[in-house]
Amino acid sequence: MTSETSRPEPKRLFIKTYGCQMNVYDSERMRDVLRPLGYQPVETADNADLVVLNTCHIREKATEKVYSELGQIKKMKEAAGGRMTIAVAGCVAQAEGAEIMRRQPAVDLVLGPQAYHKLPEMVARASRAVGERLETEFETLEKFDALPKTREADGPTAFLSVQEGCDKFCTFCVVPYTRGAELSRPVDDIIFEARNLAAQGVREISLLGQNVNAWHGAAPTLRQAQGEGSQAEWGLGQLVRHIAKIGGIDRIRYTTSHPRDMDDDLIAAHGDTEAMMPFLHLPVQSGSNTILKAMNRGHTAEHYLDIMRKMREAQPDIALASDFIVGFPGESDKDFEDTMNLVREVNYAIAYSFKYSPRPGTPAADMFGHVPDDVATERLHALQALLWEQQRAFNASKIGQTIPVLVTGKGRLDGQMHGRSPWQQAVHFDAPASTYGQIVNVKIVGATLNALAGELAHAVEAA
Ligand code: SAH
Ligand code: SF4
Ligand code: F3S
Repeated sequence: MTSETSRPEPKRLFIKTYGCQMNVYDSERMRDVLRPLGYQPVETADNADLVVLNTCHIREKATEKVYSELGQIKKMKEAAGGRMTIAVAGCVAQAEGAEIMRRQPAVDLVLGPQAYHKLPEMVARASRAVGERLETEFETLEKFDALPKTREADGPTAFLSVQEGCDKFCTFCVVPYTRGAELSRPVDDIIFEARNLAAQGVREISLLGQNVNAWHGAAPTLRQAQGEGSQAEWGLGQLVRHIAKIGGIDRIRYTTSHPRDMDDDLIAAHGDTEAMMPFLHLPVQSGSNTILKAMNRGHTAEHYLDIMRKMREAQPDIALASDFIVGFPGESDKDFEDTMNLVREVNYAIAYSFKYSPRPGTPAADMFGHVPDDVATERLHALQALLWEQQRAFNASKIGQTIPVLVTGKGRLDGQMHGRSPWQQAVHFDAPASTYGQIVNVKIVGATLNALAGELAHAVEAA
């Protein structure tokens, strides 16, 4: 038998990803685990052999989207004479389990975020119509250990999950239930993955975790002997400094952080590590201490503002980002005004705001003080207007500057490329396709709410 004929027959794999970047990372890893079985990614669900919906449960709308998408995919499965395996993965899978198959019987498999390494086995079982079709156990490290050690990089930027899960139990949030307890991956595994990405031309790594700054790990004794930090236990700051030493990795980001885990060493790393990008996404959710308490956030507005001040001291150029929830149970006009004042004080580069969505099984879902929908909507609009004004001003402040841009792809128009600024803004400019994957100097000439426009300043590498 030649190696040609021993290769598995190509099968078509369609993965649709909802929710946060951790799901984006997980979808990539599902592609990696299925590749040796002959699964090739395709762009649409029709005619796919295997369709995976990697779902999000964070707000009611996110969950409902999944069921309406499943309705569409069911029709495609029927049109294909039933020759399609439908898998539901991610946080809805974890939260609703077998209920998904009851609501949509066309679904063949349900697997939670810790079960992706079992996907090949489950798909095989589904095709023989035998065995378990539900995997929602929590075994996070087993998952990481069992996934392929190498990954196929897709361009000059990559996500790398270093931490999973959450023990914070904010009263509005489903994540502790869908992703399980906080768990950090070991340093050596992370470094191996980062080196592997660098070898494939990746220049920017975003370290991911539901609480990424809660990451901690044992410092390998050998490295301690070499003088890389004296503590036996590393925090995220030391991990970032270490990854920054990998040749080819010029940019490091991390998301999302929690104020309670923001230690001084991580703040210091923003000042002393060149590869650390000047961007911090630190969700505060509310500016009212009453609401923060009811949310079980474990920090006050003052504590948060203190972190932001220290961060600006360590890195004056930093872009600050956050998430907000409006209309949390009991939120008064005064509480909301506290949020507006906090926003005015911090002055954000970008922030995401959401109307509170009660989630089944979370403590806040049973709290009194329901905020009427029209009031919540009004608050959301007022907050967004302020945040967008700040975002526009932040983007406009770059006009006239020449900045290093990592070129991440071709633009919509011929001869146009796009890339990412150090502050995570999208930048569009005319440049030859050969600049792809390089860091080039771009003079910013225009700015909108969501992007910068620039001109290539000499076709030179900036870094
Ligand atoms: N781990 C991250 C948050 C992940 S969820 C953190 O702690 O910051 C992303 C955002 O969704 C949250 O920051 C919050 O603003 C929003 N969110 C979470 N649960 C929500 C709910 N029940 N209703 C509305 N927004 C919610
Ligand atoms: Fe959810 Fe709070 Fe955990 Fe973030 S810290 S994932 S908001 S419970
Ligand atoms: Fe959604 Fe799960 Fe991420 S609920 S935001 S996909 S951790």
